[in-house]
Amino acid sequence: MDLQLRNRTAFISGSTAGIGYAVARILVGEGATVILNGRTQEKLGLAVQQLQDEFPKETILGLPADFSKVSEVERLLKKLPDIDILVNNVGIYRAASFFEATDDDWQQQFEINVMSGVRLSRTILPRMMTNNWGRILFISSECATLVPEDLIPYSMTKTALLAVSRGLAQLTKGTGVTVNSVLPGSTLSEGAEQFLENTARKEGKTKDEIASAFFSEVRTSSLLQRFAGLDEVANTIAYLASPLSSATNGAAIKVDGGSMGGIL
Ligand SMILES: NC(=O)c1ccc[n+]([C@@H]2O[C@H](COP(=O)([O-])OP(=O)(O)OC[C@H]3O[C@@H](n4cnc5c(N)ncnc54)[C@H](OP(=O)(O)O)[C@@H]3O)[C@@H](O)[C@H]2O)c1
Repeated sequence: MDLQLRNRTAFISGSTAGIGYAVARILVGEGATVILNGRTQEKLGLAVQQLQDEFPKETILGLPADFSKVSEVERLLKKLPDIDILVNNVGIYRAASFFEATDDDWQQQFEINVMSGVRLSRTILPRMMTNNWGRILFISSECATLVPEDLIPYSMTKTALLAVSRGLAQLTKGTGVTVNSVLPGSTLSEGAEQFLENTARKEGKTKDEIASAFFSEVRTSSLLQRFAGLDEVANTIAYLASPLSSATNGAAIKVDGGSMGGIL
């Protein structure tokens, strides 16, 4: 399927690894100009080079900014060219009991997970409206509705994104711009791989045993009963970023392997 992305420019926050990088890879493969982002020039340079080696004819750029630092975000916003596709992907979590999570934990997760997308959209959405075309995607999580007890601040940020996304979609009424959110389930990013490896080492088990125990004991509602691969999530995001998804606006799309339950 041709996603019709040639001559479109995309910015993906937090895209030197994980879901963000997987989305970037698909968009570049479809001919879009992609701007990667991460906190350090060094890791960003490596990610840009890796994609450039794979797609030597395409344009891949990098703009560093740490979304926990407002001054860096402001600098980034000034440097951004016209963006057709904004993927608000950056997100962090810190597992802790409700009683141990500090004010800083709440504020830092809100700052990075929610305010990153708010600040980027405030700059980019008006230009999209002027151009009468654009795609904004907020990467939420199954945690927005499952709310694991050790991830209450993180889950709060992921529910907040749904309201931001829906509200912005309402501002696009009658235009060619759409704003949607995507709710991935447990996905095998580098972070998840590391978690499985560490737990396996600690418990003297294999990674596969730890992964399968996660689904039989923790994420019991998952119909998939395994971690999704990065591309399984990135494919949906890439489709929603494309002109082909023009009738989907203001929606929250689950890529959760059925974990959230319900029909809608
Ligand atoms: N993986 C899952 O199971 C899962 C499930 C549901 C939802 N999600 C959501 O999907 C999104 C991507 O998740 P992921 O698992 O792919 O993430 P990940 O592997 O942890 O992503 C790491 C990326 O985020 C960047 N990053 C981290 N902190 C940053 C900051 N303060 N400023 C700028 N960039 C920063 C990293 O860049 P540098 O290291 O280069 O700075 C790297 O590119 C997140 O919003 C996450 O909440 C993930």
